[in-house]
Amino acid sequence: MTSRLILGKDVSEEIYLELRARIAALKERGVVPGLAVVLVGDDPASQVYVRKKGEMCESLGMHSVTVRMPGDISQEALMAKVEELNRDPSVHGFLVQLPLPSHLDEEQVINSISPDKDVDCFHPANVGRMLIGNPDFLPATPAGVQQMLVRSGIETKGKHVVVVGRSNIVGKPMAALMIQKGAGADSTVTVVHSRTKNLPEITRQADILVVAIGKPRFVTADMVKEGAVVIDVGTNRVDDPSKPSGSRLVGDVDFEAVKEKASAITPVPGGVGPMTICMLMANAVKAAERASEARI
Ligand code: GUN
Repeated sequence: MTSRLILGKDVSEEIYLELRARIAALKERGVVPGLAVVLVGDDPASQVYVRKKGEMCESLGMHSVTVRMPGDISQEALMAKVEELNRDPSVHGFLVQLPLPSHLDEEQVINSISPDKDVDCFHPANVGRMLIGNPDFLPATPAGVQQMLVRSGIETKGKHVVVVGRSNIVGKPMAALMIQKGAGADSTVTVVHSRTKNLPEITRQADILVVAIGKPRFVTADMVKEGAVVIDVGTNRVDDPSKPSGSRLVGDVDFEAVKEKASAITPVPGGVGPMTICMLMANAVKAAERASEARI
């Protein structure tokens, strides 16, 4: 079987058009949606993500704030910045880019972000709301994967979704989204991880396999059922002397081999990647809409 490619670039374009219309409607009411991103230190991957988020905000005509703080900043100074953004009415949503330098307490930072502005959907109140099926915000990467499935016409109802990986950012919220009632969900979900016994036996049962384990080419063709839909959330930089940069991005799935077996598959790059920022923007627009409704 040769598989169909699911491209985040195409799906996100569609969502951006919808967001543009919502942003225009907000502007007619005098509201410019504002998103702030806090970057602590100079982690190269984080710098790229933060730059892309700022560029996308600007291209959508949103108010964009990037707060850069030195890597040796104190917990108190970072908490003070979070409090300032919690109070800033021009910032409808914000996030603190992770990972933070090891001397900082990530959990304390996340817990101090106002749930109303928590566009990452990392605050326990928002995670809990999502879990019970009454969400405010949706977690960006899992919601992006869900939109790719829905907008590619892939049925999820009653399907066996196997999630590989149990991180708080992808694996756990992905599972939580897909077990909910309703369109784009209603799935039977299994989560497997680094301590799972007989992992390939379980991944082979997946109708939809979502992989977010952070290990280059972890999923090989023998771990995938013929005709499965394979969503690769991984972004791993590996050495490649043939590239001018000396490296390239690969996913958590052995794409070349698995694409011969899957009915549909996401490439890396160009697959899930563009969806994360897109869904983050959607959360920021939602926060602005809610804030503007509250004002009336
Ligand atoms: N680091 C990697 N992904 C993310 C994300 O979605 N949000 C934040 N804040 N940090 C990240």
